[in-house]
Amino acid sequence: MKIVVTGGLGFIGSHTVVELQNEGFEVVVVDNLSNTSLSVLDGIQNITGKVPAFEKLDLREKEKVQNFFKRHPDISGVIHFAASKAVGESVENPLLYYENNINTLVYVLQELQLKPEANFIFSSSCTVYGQAETMPITENASIQTAMSPYGNTKQIGEEIITDTAKVTNINAILLRYFNPIGAHPSTEIGELPIGVPQNLVPFITQTGFGLRKELSVYGDDYPTPDGTAVRDYIHVVDLAKAHVIALQRLLNKKNTAKVETFNLGTGTGSSVLEVIHTFEKVSGKKLPYKIVGRREGDITSAYANTDKANTILGWKAQSTLEQAMASAWKWEQKIRG
Ligand code: WQD
Repeated sequence: MKIVVTGGLGFIGSHTVVELQNEGFEVVVVDNLSNTSLSVLDGIQNITGKVPAFEKLDLREKEKVQNFFKRHPDISGVIHFAASKAVGESVENPLLYYENNINTLVYVLQELQLKPEANFIFSSSCTVYGQAETMPITENASIQTAMSPYGNTKQIGEEIITDTAKVTNINAILLRYFNPIGAHPSTEIGELPIGVPQNLVPFITQTGFGLRKELSVYGDDYPTPDGTAVRDYIHVVDLAKAHVIALQRLLNKKNTAKVETFNLGTGTGSSVLEVIHTFEKVSGKKLPYKIVGRREGDITSAYANTDKANTILGWKAQSTLEQAMASAWKWEQKIRG
């Protein structure tokens, strides 16, 4: 079966391509290479022994999207990762985010609805919950006003898919990721942040390697056990496997609704200081850091209630924070070595 993976050379996309190939799927990767590099294809091949078909494609170009789908009439599903994802950048440049995250989704759905098998997996985010009232967060927690244009594009994306699935043959699963971290155990693929990392874990591993002077911890005055903010850090390979399981659910017509939603996390919250201490444990290095003020738009706490994914998808995150941090550190050493 042929599956299209948009943004398939990105961090989560590339790990998902590996898991799709491991399950015997024929994969066509589309990516505009704006936030990754072609070398990721080599990494994928080094892991699975198979090079996925690749087409450089900017999904903002509607005609090119139409032509691409015309050239692939036998598609069984799409896993849609392609989007911009830097929260801070989205505040500075909202129109870039609305164009790149919304228009592209519309163009892909307009073509997918024409296929006899219109199965769609959407890369969403726990950011749609904002600061949820109750921890752990379930899928029916209220959707708060987005804290950033990036978060808003995920909320709008979910609404577009829901409205479209109602009146087309599209079946969809929305996967709300918590905080993806780590790298493939082979160290053939991993996170490739361009410029100064915005996310905690790549900043930690770059600091550990000596590329950054010290980590700034954004606030230790949160109402949490140690004062630093709490998140649910999930190994990217666990996340990738969930995408294949969700896709197979649709292909096997096991879904019980046109659109289903699942939180993908470990179910455990970890504070910034706990992540730092875990890094120090797995690397044997002391991490230089300083406490600074809170980052605009950050929430206190977010970790997933994973019951629905565990029971309905039959999926559960396998890696611990320690294993995920060890894989992130191993990857940092590999790419800088
Ligand atoms: C985690 C914690 C920071 C950097 C965002 C998006 C989410 C997803 C993941 C795309 C927070 C603290 C961070 C640093 C720090 N993105 N931190 N110093 O903000 O939870 O989630 O990225 O899919 O949708 O919202 O992740 O890694 O940026 O921050 O203290 O240098 O680490 O304040 O508490 P976040 P993050």
